[in-house]
Amino acid sequence: MSSADTSKLIADLDRLAGEFAGEIGGLATEEEIRLAQARYLGKKGKVSDLMKALGKLPPAERPAVGEAANRAKSSIERSVGERLSALAEASLSADLARVVDVTLPPRGAPLGTLHPLTLVRREIEEIFLGLGFAVRTGPWIETEWNNFDALNTPPDHPARDMQDTFFVEGGRILRSHTSPVQIRTMLAGPPPIRIVAPGNVFRRDDDATHTPMFPQMEGLYVDKDVSFADLKGTLLHFVHRFFGPNLGVRLRPSYFPFTEPSAEVDAACYLCSGNGHVDGRSCRLCRGSGWIEIGGSGMVHPNVFRAVGYDPAAVTGFAFGFGLSRMAMLKYEVDDLRSFYEHDARFLAQFR
Ligand code: PHE
Repeated sequence: MSSADTSKLIADLDRLAGEFAGEIGGLATEEEIRLAQARYLGKKGKVSDLMKALGKLPPAERPAVGEAANRAKSSIERSVGERLSALAEASLSADLARVVDVTLPPRGAPLGTLHPLTLVRREIEEIFLGLGFAVRTGPWIETEWNNFDALNTPPDHPARDMQDTFFVEGGRILRSHTSPVQIRTMLAGPPPIRIVAPGNVFRRDDDATHTPMFPQMEGLYVDKDVSFADLKGTLLHFVHRFFGPNLGVRLRPSYFPFTEPSAEVDAACYLCSGNGHVDGRSCRLCRGSGWIEIGGSGMVHPNVFRAVGYDPAAVTGFAFGFGLSRMAMLKYEVDDLRSFYEHDARFLAQFR
């Protein structure tokens, strides 16, 4: 091989760099650029191809060719680097140029709603808090003594049949009413006492109008000279606030072991204003009676005071117990008790 061949080889190598630069000018992705790079600098690339002739050159001329090869290599690598950073820059400015409407309202996470029984519980709590009552709660699993004996309901008492409940291990029971919170509160301190106690209670019943678990709200007021008139005034205030002003309260003689005298509490029907009929038709809510039953009540029995160590000669008190699901059914005109426990979102979303 001659020097003419050497000069041609050097010229070819120098040409490759320019050829490469022209080729990648039109490439739009990093992948394409890398593939082009490999076509020139790879093992079987164009530069290696030309270098195969190197061994046939006179040794004295080889360094010049090697230099030319290095020149080509670094020029190609520089072109790759420049082209890649140009691409990155272009994509960054495209990103920055994108118009985002920051004033669009967000899509908003769907908010849940409070359960109707929670709404009713809170509303009743508010009414009694306004009268100076405190809110107290007790455990669902109770001692038989708190649930029955201390409430003047000894083991052989027939009234236990009406509150047939569930026994759990250790001789305890699922409380059949919220009245044991009366006992717990009185055992915890001396009178005066003004509390309401919301919470779930359990009985064996299970049909269209009874669920084995249901919420109640207990009330207890103990002090010197608390009278039956105080009970009625308190209930009247409650009914006015909860169902509507000008609605009456009716106390029907009844029996509970832990109150004497005892009374069922009826509120005048808010749908027919106690008339029993709407537009000449029998009222569908109270079924024409003009009254709806909301709970039981009475004056605390002296034996209950004795059980908690209060002196029945020194204090008197009244107590009441409302069925919260019944209140919610009346307030929201829900006709099936079970709706409260089925957790159908379409039903629940109506209460906001
Ligand atoms: N605990 C009674 C029941 O569940 C209701 C009640 C409470 C009655 C307080 C009188 C006084 O049936």
